[in-house]
Amino acid sequence: MNDKNQRLFEIFLDVQRGLPRQGPGTDETTLEALSLCTGLPEKPAILDIGCGPGIQTVALATALAESHVTAVDVHQAYLKALKERAQAAEVAQRIDILIADMNALPFSPQSFDLVWAEGTAYIMGFEKALAAWKHWLKSGGCLAVSELVWLQPDPPGEVAEFFGREYPAMTDVETIVATIRACDYEPLGHFTLPEAAWWQSYYRPLEAKLPALYDKYRGDEDALGIIETTKREIEIRRHFGNWYGYAFFVGRDLRVRS
Ligand SMILES: C[S@@+](CC[C@H](N)C(=O)[O-])C[C@H]1O[C@@H](n2cnc3c(N)ncnc32)[C@H](O)[C@@H]1O
Repeated sequence: MNDKNQRLFEIFLDVQRGLPRQGPGTDETTLEALSLCTGLPEKPAILDIGCGPGIQTVALATALAESHVTAVDVHQAYLKALKERAQAAEVAQRIDILIADMNALPFSPQSFDLVWAEGTAYIMGFEKALAAWKHWLKSGGCLAVSELVWLQPDPPGEVAEFFGREYPAMTDVETIVATIRACDYEPLGHFTLPEAAWWQSYYRPLEAKLPALYDKYRGDEDALGIIETTKREIEIRRHFGNWYGYAFFVGRDLRVRS
């Protein structure tokens, strides 16, 4: 990363710092997705990719009392937050926390019964992520991913323009389900996250940070650009939320391995 990009990235991290979640979701939506993961063994090994501050990691470890979760992220600060959260919830002894890049994970093939990724598949590219993460799944293991999707065709210009710029690869639920099949997973179910999942632990606390961020970065055009885009993203949600959403998708690995 060159110096300018590194600086922009650090500003982005500052904007996101301290939020309970780094994307839409609630414990309820995590547990609803988990309920679609049928056929897990009694003591499942779970891999949480891009765990962030780890609300969902702790929710999974708490819900499955015999599970062992391995949580990976590239940012140490998030992993520290996860460690504290896991200790407070008394599940730390069943969570391994690892700084690692999702593109180069240090595991043996077929190590996990469940691969979990809330709001992170887009980082590699949805299809590429699904194909790559299969590598870590045991035969018949489950994959649960949440992803930004269009809910209706032909969105108004403002929202189409915004996501055309911010997430041009965004597609709809049917296309995602087709991709899941194409990557050799049996779709087990999907659902759209409720509106509260955007606000409770993500946009509301993010919006509350904005005035202090405008103050902190006064006169810094690069930083103000990032803060403006964040504000715009929240406004778009408020006005056009019925056109797009976050959806959870669960699938089962169909590959037969020797
Ligand atoms: C949208 S956030 C989702 C975080 C968390 N799953 C949640 O729902 O709150 C994306 C996460 O992926 C992490 N991340 C970004 N690039 C990564 C990479 N190459 N490998 C692993 N994690 C990465 C970020 O640090 C961030 O925590």
